[in-house]
Amino acid sequence: MEKVAIVTGSSSGIGFETVLALARDGYYTYATMRDTKKGSKILEIAKKENLKIEVLQLDVDKDDTIKNSINKIVGDKKRIDVLVSNAGYGLFGCLEDLSMADLKSQFETNFFGLIKVIQAVLPTMRKQRSGILVNVSSVAGRIGFPASPAYISSKFALEGLSESMRYELEPFGIKTIMIEPGVIKTNFFTSLKKSQRPDSAYKEITEKVMKGLSMMAEMGTPPLEVARTIVKAVNTENPLPRYPVGNDAAMFLEAKKNKTDQEFENYIKKELYS
Ligand SMILES: NC(=O)c1ccc[n+]([C@@H]2O[C@H](COP(=O)([O-])OP(=O)(O)OC[C@H]3O[C@@H](n4cnc5c(N)ncnc54)[C@H](OP(=O)(O)O)[C@@H]3O)[C@@H](O)[C@H]2O)c1
Repeated sequence: MEKVAIVTGSSSGIGFETVLALARDGYYTYATMRDTKKGSKILEIAKKENLKIEVLQLDVDKDDTIKNSINKIVGDKKRIDVLVSNAGYGLFGCLEDLSMADLKSQFETNFFGLIKVIQAVLPTMRKQRSGILVNVSSVAGRIGFPASPAYISSKFALEGLSESMRYELEPFGIKTIMIEPGVIKTNFFTSLKKSQRPDSAYKEITEKVMKGLSMMAEMGTPPLEVARTIVKAVNTENPLPRYPVGNDAAMFLEAKKNKTDQEFENYIKKELYS
């Protein structure tokens, strides 16, 4: 039986590599993206390697595009085995510098958008009594740091959602896992939405964090490593709840586990500012 996978945010980075990795593993893979003109490269590779990849328009902020894509997939394939909820972006700036509109947009895409796509695939997965939901969280879904409270809280929310869903969906044979990458070399950092008031009181801390992040981004893990982790996880009979990816993610999570809250804060300050 042909297995069917859907990936959101496939135009670049982790989503792009995940589509290719799933298709190379034999999945009929739907590369969904908000602008399908960005799908030409993935289709070129698919043609060259004879991979089963279809590009569909899906903007997680737009309900009609979610409905149309999922209806088409279910109509054509009658099943959905894997959903990789990957679409997302980072809003950078300290809390007082962020407008409510920017904060709400961050949650609309990274959190509510993901929920809407999951809700659209669940009836099919429940009916077939199988499926795996892969939620692309972040190491930032487990540790806070300055100048990114919007992004970080959207990923913390995703972690709570994922942990809770696991219990609800297990009786239907549906698995939920979280992928927790550290810093990955993608368009993420060039696409950051930055917000700072002209008279901001947070210029110094914002600059320091941006400098630290830019340095980390230079040394980031390739997105292919995340894609490989996802393929391995979805092919595992009993996948783990969480898959950190990258040495930095492992290092931060290990420190979080072994330190008191106060020790951990001092450690983060040293890592970010020195
Ligand atoms: N890079 C990192 O260091 C890192 C670390 C941890 C977690 N992550 C997470 O990994 C995921 C993928 O990011 P990436 O690193 O691969 O960055 P990326 O190259 O910037 O990819 C982000 C993808 O999300 C898409 N997207 C943004 N808003 C969308 C919307 N409303 N509807 C549908 N698609 C949308 C983008 O599409 P467009 O091309 O149309 O903008 C793009 O395809 C994100 O959830 C991010 O939070 C990244």
